Amino acid sequence: MAEKEKVVLAYSGGLDTSVIVKWLQIEKNLDVVAICGNVGQDEKDLSWIKQKALDMGAIASEAIDMRAEYADKILTKAIWANGKYEGIYPLLSALSRPLISKHLVDIAHQYGAKYIAHGCTGKGNDQVRFETCIRALDPQIQIIAPVRVWDLTTRDSEMEWAEANGVPVPTTHKKPYSIDDNLWGRAIECGVLEDTWNTPPADIWTMTSNPEDCPADPEAVTIGFEAGVPVSINGEKKPLLDLIIEANEIAGRNGFGRIDMIEDRVVGIKSRECYECPAALLLIQAHQSLETLCLDAETLKQKAKNDVEWASTVYRGLWFSQNRNALDAYNAYTQKFVTGEVRIKLCKGGLFVDGLRSPYSLYDYNLATYDEGDTFDHTAARGFIDLHGLQSKTWSRVQGPGSGLQPID
Ligand code: ARG
Repeated sequence: MAEKEKVVLAYSGGLDTSVIVKWLQIEKNLDVVAICGNVGQDEKDLSWIKQKALDMGAIASEAIDMRAEYADKILTKAIWANGKYEGIYPLLSALSRPLISKHLVDIAHQYGAKYIAHGCTGKGNDQVRFETCIRALDPQIQIIAPVRVWDLTTRDSEMEWAEANGVPVPTTHKKPYSIDDNLWGRAIECGVLEDTWNTPPADIWTMTSNPEDCPADPEAVTIGFEAGVPVSINGEKKPLLDLIIEANEIAGRNGFGRIDMIEDRVVGIKSRECYECPAALLLIQAHQSLETLCLDAETLKQKAKNDVEWASTVYRGLWFSQNRNALDAYNAYTQKFVTGEVRIKLCKGGLFVDGLRSPYSLYDYNLATYDEGDTFDHTAARGFIDLHGLQSKTWSRVQGPGSGLQPID
């Protein structure tokens, strides 16, 4: 008998991807290799997920701890870029997909698999990201997206198919939300959130305390950076992974990090998204503040534009691209001197930057002070303003109020 072709599946252990393990065997006659990536999601013990895929007939199943790589290779770049899509969302799902894709492609090569499959729907961003990243890493690999093609469109039909084909169906009710989570935060969508006027129910939040119930006394936290990367928290040096875990806890217990937004998906749909990203928002804020101390005005202006572009590029699944690499090259240069400390205070869901210092600070006390010790040459301002104001003067004389042509309104 000819050997079957192989498919590597991004497996989560949930109903959809469990049905897919069977579906790929039955409908596509493929051998399934199931991969579950640990990117710091709530589900810590992945061994049952690994076993579940084998129980469903997968020929191999692997749970891979990607957390340190996620922190060191991906989140460092996101911090450099102050990465927030539409200025709000710190990209937690968009950032994890390229890393998972890379592992899927590596495993496909290892097993000689011709196909990669995922469980994303046809309406979301994640399908775009997986497939764009996989294409960029190996254009030969073919992608199967069962949820996009099968006719199990309702949950009942899916449960029926599962039962008929020996996939254990959950006894509990369908979870009321669609959730994706990792080190960089949690995304909560669907259910009652689909009505934009509904208050997000209290039970959607698991990483952050309700701000109203948080301690009234502010909690201070100091983040140390080297070359744009967080390296210490409250004076203690830590690997980024551990630092993020601690920052999630500190900010979370002070109710900081909740987002409720309308987001523009790649496929043209506006969707209502709730997120909680305590560490991500804290570290980005700290980093961005430190940049104001260490980067000059022109660079800050240019970088702010680049940062918008970086977030949009990554959101649209183009992690593996010329553009993202080029933007990161710009960032690598600008981050060389973004070293120092940021003191933050957290209180009842709020975050306040409380102090900044850097050995490379461009802030010059003697230039800035209005007290004694002022070294700024006040007489130089006169000539500067003469030249700076020249275009305004000329415009006014020829076309503006100075010419008597225009009223001032
Ligand atoms: N809207 C967010 C994004 O596109 C979150 C997606 C979360 N995925 C999920 N399956 N719930 O990045």
